[in-house]
Amino acid sequence: MKNKIDKIKDLALKEISKARNLADLEKLRVKYLGRKSELTNVLRGVKNLSKNERKEVGEMANKLREEMDENIKHQVVNIKRRESGDVKEKEKIDVTYPGRKISKGHLHPLTQVRYEIEEIFKSMGFLTVDGREVEDEFHNFDALNMPKNHPARDMQDTFWLKNGCVPRTQTSSVQIRFMKENKPPLRIVSIGRVYRNENSDATHDFNFNQIECLMVDESGKITVAHFKSVVSEFMKGLFGKETKTRLRPSYFPFVEPGFEFDASCPYCKGRGCRICKGTGWIELGGAGMVNQKIFTSVGFSEDKYEGFAFGFGVERMAMIKYGIDDTRLFYGGDLRFLEQF
Ligand code: PHE
Repeated sequence: MKNKIDKIKDLALKEISKARNLADLEKLRVKYLGRKSELTNVLRGVKNLSKNERKEVGEMANKLREEMDENIKHQVVNIKRRESGDVKEKEKIDVTYPGRKISKGHLHPLTQVRYEIEEIFKSMGFLTVDGREVEDEFHNFDALNMPKNHPARDMQDTFWLKNGCVPRTQTSSVQIRFMKENKPPLRIVSIGRVYRNENSDATHDFNFNQIECLMVDESGKITVAHFKSVVSEFMKGLFGKETKTRLRPSYFPFVEPGFEFDASCPYCKGRGCRICKGTGWIELGGAGMVNQKIFTSVGFSEDKYEGFAFGFGVERMAMIKYGIDDTRLFYGGDLRFLEQF
């Protein structure tokens, strides 16, 4: 009997102390103190015990009843206190608490590099001009000495629209439109998105941003030396003062002679590393002295003007500047990437 009472006591006190709300506590009160409780059952058997035992067990049971009753009352107070505390906690307004910070976004890395490039050209007196993203065949190809069936068209496969226009393949078209409206001397950069029918990989995409620079003046006033000085100033501005530039002969239908230009690798300073594939140089863009055919296509008389043009991709500049090895990251929208700039 005594054992049984002890067991009831252990279990009951434990359960009461764990009750978390008043409804649970009420259930426990019925379970342990109600008419059908185990303790009541025990007390019913007391009459069969000897007189001494009867007294002892009876006292024990009554003590337990009082103790459980006490504990339940105590727990009621605890629960009530906690519940009202919870409400206060929830509804508390601390006017001195610092506001939640709204995190600020920033410009896309390509936009940042584009602005930086524009600034450098601006400092050399170049005007930024905008153009259309969808061009007709004349402005995108013919006027740039790339007539139909010219093999140079293969260098820039594109997406043709049903009306014969194209999402422009190069921002050179902007220069054509500008020269139709403005006479030299002129110094302009045209920046914008261009489209080519390419398969995406780490260094190519079907769209990218191109920058083209054009400087034109009367014949004899602009030479390759001017081009070299502008391009090397630009490289130094973007990649650091110690950057060197070199030209290699190349072919583009809108220039004569044509070059490709490289910058010394900003990572290894020309010694050769993984980024420059051990050569010490990084290929950056195409350039040359404007072909007279371009001038005649915009209505200038032949040999009246001379100038240079060069073009390159913003993505490629940004990749080199920040050591990014996959151009598709720029368009993926992954914040883990974008937040690093
Ligand atoms: N528009 C040329 C291209 O996209 C680049 C270029 C510009 C080359 C100016 C020479 C001179 O390939």
